[in-house]
Parts: sequence; structure tokens; C-alpha cells
Amino acid sequence: MVEENNVVLPGQMQFFWGDEDQPQADAVRDESSDDMADVKKLKKAAKAKTTKKRKKSASVKKKAQKPSATVKLATAVAKKQKKKASRKFVRPVPQESVTATKIAPPDELVADDVLSLQPVVSDIVVADDRESAVVVAEPGVVEAVQPTVKVKNRAPKTVVSDVEVSSMSNENSDVPAAGFADQVDCFNMKWGARFPKVGFGFWKVDKDKTAEVCRTAIEVGYRHLDCACDYGNEVEVGQGIASAISDGVCDREDLWVTSKLWNTYHAADHVRIACERSLEDLGLDYLDLYLIHFPIAQRFVPFEKSYPPGWLFDPDAKNPTIEEARVPVSETWQAMEELAKSGLVRNIGICNFGTSQIRDLLTYAHIRPAVLQVETHPYLTQEKLLRYCQQEKITYTAFSPLGAQSYFSLGMADPSEAVMEHPVVREVANATGKTVAQVLLRWGVQRGTAVIPKTSSKQRMIENINVFNFELSDAQMAAISALDQNRRFNDPGHFGEAAFNTFLPIYE
Ligand SMILES: NC(=O)c1ccc[n+]([C@@H]2O[C@H](COP(=O)([O-])OP(=O)(O)OC[C@H]3O[C@@H](n4cnc5c(N)ncnc54)[C@H](OP(=O)(O)O)[C@@H]3O)[C@@H](O)[C@H]2O)c1
Repeated sequence: MVEENNVVLPGQMQFFWGDEDQPQADAVRDESSDDMADVKKLKKAAKAKTTKKRKKSASVKKKAQKPSATVKLATAVAKKQKKKASRKFVRPVPQESVTATKIAPPDELVADDVLSLQPVVSDIVVADDRESAVVVAEPGVVEAVQPTVKVKNRAPKTVVSDVEVSSMSNENSDVPAAGFADQVDCFNMKWGARFPKVGFGFWKVDKDKTAEVCRTAIEVGYRHLDCACDYGNEVEVGQGIASAISDGVCDREDLWVTSKLWNTYHAADHVRIACERSLEDLGLDYLDLYLIHFPIAQRFVPFEKSYPPGWLFDPDAKNPTIEEARVPVSETWQAMEELAKSGLVRNIGICNFGTSQIRDLLTYAHIRPAVLQVETHPYLTQEKLLRYCQQEKITYTAFSPLGAQSYFSLGMADPSEAVMEHPVVREVANATGKTVAQVLLRWGVQRGTAVIPKTSSKQRMIENINVFNFELSDAQMAAISALDQNRRFNDPGHFGEAAFNTFLPIYE
């Protein structure tokens, strides 16, 4: 625990500066005795004692002031890190009890200081030079040091001495905006990070058009770009980002770029190289979010053999199949945590996990997942999963928010299953004067999920992001939610067998 000016580290004693000798000296002065020699002796002894005590007190003061809080913390970090080598797991601190404590002057501590410190934290210490921070997992256990925490935006002066762990629905918080948050509607994540409510998805965007699509999406106002190694177009997304930045449309800090770890890179040794490859392709030096794409570990495929490797281990084999690898999620998650600590990624999360998988992950995670991305639309409302994520302060992102649209061409949905054609949705669109897509996306954000629609059309891009100038009534929200059929279009339990000769259920 660290308090302003008065530093108290776990296990360290507190010092009292009061003059403990004073009562004794007074007692000497009040003494009435004829024996002046004795009185002198007594006074001399008392003076000597006082001087000795004062010297001791001064030396104690000196000791307490030196080394500085930062040095002591650094020492504590070094000691605990040594210990940490022999320790595998630390139970996460309950998020509800988490507060940030400061030693920086209160009016100099801003929310951005803790922007990237979303992990399990009980103390955040903004050190004197304001370029480093110490993250403590539990009293006395220093869990991680993030020496590169940058103070990116000094303008907002809101003190975050007690950082509230805000829920996703806490839309009106005073947490100051950072970068893109000035320009787009966002959900508050824990630790002050802000997550755009409407992002842009790059799955199935033609490679040839991706750079232009990306640039246009940024121009019309998208700030969250949802990418993945598996989409095969990260190089082109990177070109779009570079062109937008070089032409002054936005800065890197204005964007929230997500990428995903493909199934073939789940082993500890492969997580970092996969992330670095995505970063290289995107032309970035950090990701805002890195997600485990599926809770499925596949056999490793080297970059030279094929990239992105996709689902089949060897597409040229006589009977090609998906080949699984025996890698536990805990191993992958620990490697993801290392990426977060290294600064290559600012947040880590998961896709296509269910409540049991998340609950298990939370038992050993040092850094809790910031985001869950999962298929969600009116035919698959995921009420319990969404509620569980809200309870656990995991920001929820809905993929395929328009329902079956992406799956017709893949033979994974029947035309009769078009959510966009459902009479209830169309009726709400008529009643509100909005398009069906806007109604579906508004339903998504209004119930607390971020949405990441994909389109290659500029007109639709504009349409899809304009969902903040109207509201659906409770009755309209309820009518759309009542369409739930638990219909999942993107299900390895179906397409694994249909397209890749492998029965691969994960949700049942
Ligand atoms: N984590 C995962 O496992 C996972 C899985 C799937 C998807 N995702 C992410 O989620 C993103 C979105 O999901 P998605 O692409 O499956 O589905 P989606 O965004 O719900 O739907 C995209 C389809 O809807 C069409 N569309 C878009 N806007 C429209 C509008 N205003 N009116 C009519 N049609 C419209 C698009 O056609 P046009 O392009 O022709 O406009 C496209 O066919 C993906 O791009 C990807 O980034 C993640």
C-alpha cells in the first residue's frame, strides 16, 4: 500500500517522529534537590540521552526517506520477480475490490495512466518519472512491472485515485476519453479503456479491395478494426491504416486494432511469433486487443508451409482433416499474458468461449480477459453468456450481428433463415424509419454488446455506424430478443464435418 508522502510498503514498519524524551526532561526540570551536583549530573545525563535519541530519530528519518518509494518498489519488484520464477499461478484479486493508489500528485494522475493496466491489479503506482508503473496482484506480491506505460494524453485532469471497475453499461461515466473515444461512441472497459460500440469486421473482405475498404471505413468514422490472421488480409488492412495515417485522417492512437491468434499457434512457443507476424503484416508495433480465435488447438503449421494455415493440416493429403494438438488453454493464456506484459498487445481476450470455459480460465488467469467476441444476433441472443460477461466485467462483442448474411454463400445458412427478413425486425424498421441493419445493430448496442458489422460498400458502412441517433423502445427490444432460436451459423460442430471431414463440436 502506498500513500502520498508517507510510504508504507507491505511488511515495512511505520515511523513516529514525536519527541519521546520531552516528558523525561520536564521531570528532571521539576526535581527539587539541594544537591546541585546531582541535579547537574541528572541534567547532563538527560541531555545526553536526548541528543542520542534525536540522533537516532534523525537516522531513522533518513533511513525512511532513503531509498525513495520508487527505488523501494523496484527492489520489491526485483525480489518478488525472483520468487515468481518458482511460482506458477497467482489467484486473481476480485476486481470489485480493486483500487488504484497513487504517489504522483493527485492532479497529475489521469485516466490514461492506467489505460493499458487492465490486468488483475490491486495497486497501480505511478512513479516519480511518470513513465513506469508497478502492478501488484495482491498485498505484498508484485505481479508485473510495466515500464513502458506511456502518459499519452495529459489534457484531462480527472483524478483516478480510486479507479472504479465500471461495467459495460456504465455509459455516462466521467472517465476521460482517450484518442478515438473523442470521436465514436464507446463502452467503458475496466481501467478506463474505452471500446467502440460499433467496429468494422474484415472477415471475407476481398484481399484486392481490403486496403481501400479499410481506408474508407476509417474515413467514415470506424475506429475499431476487427482483423485476424485467418482472414488472410492483414497486410492489406495495414496498407489501409498506413494510408489513412499518412494522409492525416487519423493517428495510430485513434484506432483500436484487434487481431486474433489462429488455432495452429496455441503452443507457448508459437503465440508470440504469431502475434509478431500479425503486427508485421498490419505494419503496427502494438495491438489494442489480441484474441484467442477459437478454444481449439490445431497442429502447428510453419509460416513457410502456409500462411494463413486455415483449418486443414494438409489440404493436399488424400483425406485432409483438421488435426488437433494437445495444448491446454492455460498454456495459451499464459503466453497471451506474456504478450500483454511485453507491451506488444494492450488487451487480451477470447472468442467463441462459453461460460464454463471462461469460468475455468478465470481460476488461473493473472490477467483477466478484457473481451469476449462471440456470434450474437436475434436468432442467437446468448442471454446467459452476456449476463455472465457483464457480471465478470468482460466486454462483450457480437460477431455476425446481422445474422445469417455472411453464411448464405458458404452454404452454412438457408435463405429462409435471414434475420434481416424477419417480419418483426422489418416492422420495427418501418416504425422507427431506420433500415433493418440499423435496427439489428442498435438492438445489439442497446443491450450492451459491441457490434462489428462487415461490408464492402461505403454506403452500408455509413448506414451501419449511424445507430446513435435513435432508441428502440422496451417493447421493440423485447420483441426482437424474443426471436431467439439458439441458432448458431458459425459452428465448428457443423462446418468441421461438412467442410473439413472432422467432427469438432465445441459448444455442446
Ligand atoms: N471471432 C470469430 O470467430 C468471428 C467469426 C465471424 C465473424 N467475426 C468478425 O465479425 C465480423 C462481422 O461478422 P460477419 O461478417 O460474419 O457478419 P455481418 O457483419 O453480420 O454481416 C455481413 C454481411 O452482411 C452484409 N451487410 C452488411 N451491411 C449490410 C447492410 N447495411 N444491409 C444489408 N446487408 C449488409 C454484407 O454484405 P456486403 O459486404 O456485400 O455489404 C455481408 O454479406 C467479421 O467480419 C469478423 O471481423 C469473428
